[in-house]
Amino acid sequence: MRYMGSKARHAKHITPIILEGHNESHWYIEPFLGGGNMFSCVDVALKWGNDTSYYAVSLLEALSKGWSVPTFLSEDEYNLIKEHPEGYDPALVGFAAYCCSYAGKFWGGYWRASNSKSEPRNCASEQSRNLEKQRSGLIGSKFTVGSYLDMDIPVGSTVYCDPPYAGTTGYQSCFDSQEFWDWCECLVDNGCRVFVSEYEAPECWTCVWEKPVTNSLTKDTGSKKGTEKLFTTVRVGRKNRVGNGNGPAGQLEFNSESYTLVPVVHDMTYASRDDSDEIPF
Ligand SMILES: C[S@@+](CC[C@H](N)C(=O)[O-])C[C@H]1O[C@@H](n2cnc3c(N)ncnc32)[C@H](O)[C@@H]1O
Repeated sequence: MRYMGSKARHAKHITPIILEGHNESHWYIEPFLGGGNMFSCVDVALKWGNDTSYYAVSLLEALSKGWSVPTFLSEDEYNLIKEHPEGYDPALVGFAAYCCSYAGKFWGGYWRASNSKSEPRNCASEQSRNLEKQRSGLIGSKFTVGSYLDMDIPVGSTVYCDPPYAGTTGYQSCFDSQEFWDWCECLVDNGCRVFVSEYEAPECWTCVWEKPVTNSLTKDTGSKKGTEKLFTTVRVGRKNRVGNGNGPAGQLEFNSESYTLVPVVHDMTYASRDDSDEIPF
């Protein structure tokens, strides 16, 4: 699904890392579901997605329950829905607000694009096909709307967090990153396996995957290069892949018997423009 900050292009790299050691009788949880672009790629029995965005969650939940996705949305319809969202199915509002908007930004302006012959593209139809690809990965999941702080996360869950990045603009409200990291550390103390996508993390978190990317958070700020990273303090029952202090460069070393960490994967292929957040999914 077209969504600002989508992890669609990274999902195939980071899901195997996150799921290594996941206990199938426990929950896989995403407190920052967004467009569900990671979530729908995770193949486990118990999945819970949450977000503060009522319309994004409504769209994904409706999709999971068989909602028919529109294959066309005119600019007039887009503007009508934007002016009176209360008069429409929240799933349709979500479709218009995110999937039919520039860069997947909430009501970021009607998305107009042309093909190589300068003919207008039917962006709604393209997005409809993308949503169809996500549908099977959403069926049977639990969905909630609200702050991550209000989630009652069961002990032993695998929690993947993709919060608004510290210091970035574009989201509706400001996000307290320190409060977020404190909350993550409480989850770890409560026996959860926690993974976080961020550019930086507090010292006790370890980067286990990284890839340079070109992001475009808003059409005003233009593109920006950065390095996507996945951090964790994974705690699992068995001991594997723990280095002895003499491992090859890039191999993660860790001393505690109670922790197992996967080796950091440096994927140094620079994302092309087509691979950027401007064209998620
Ligand atoms: C980077 S996006 C997630 C993108 C998602 N991983 C994907 O691939 O589509 C971050 C999300 O965090 C949500 N968010 C921001 N503050 C939140 C909060 N306090 N609690 C829960 N979700 C929040 C935003 O609405 C946004 O959808």
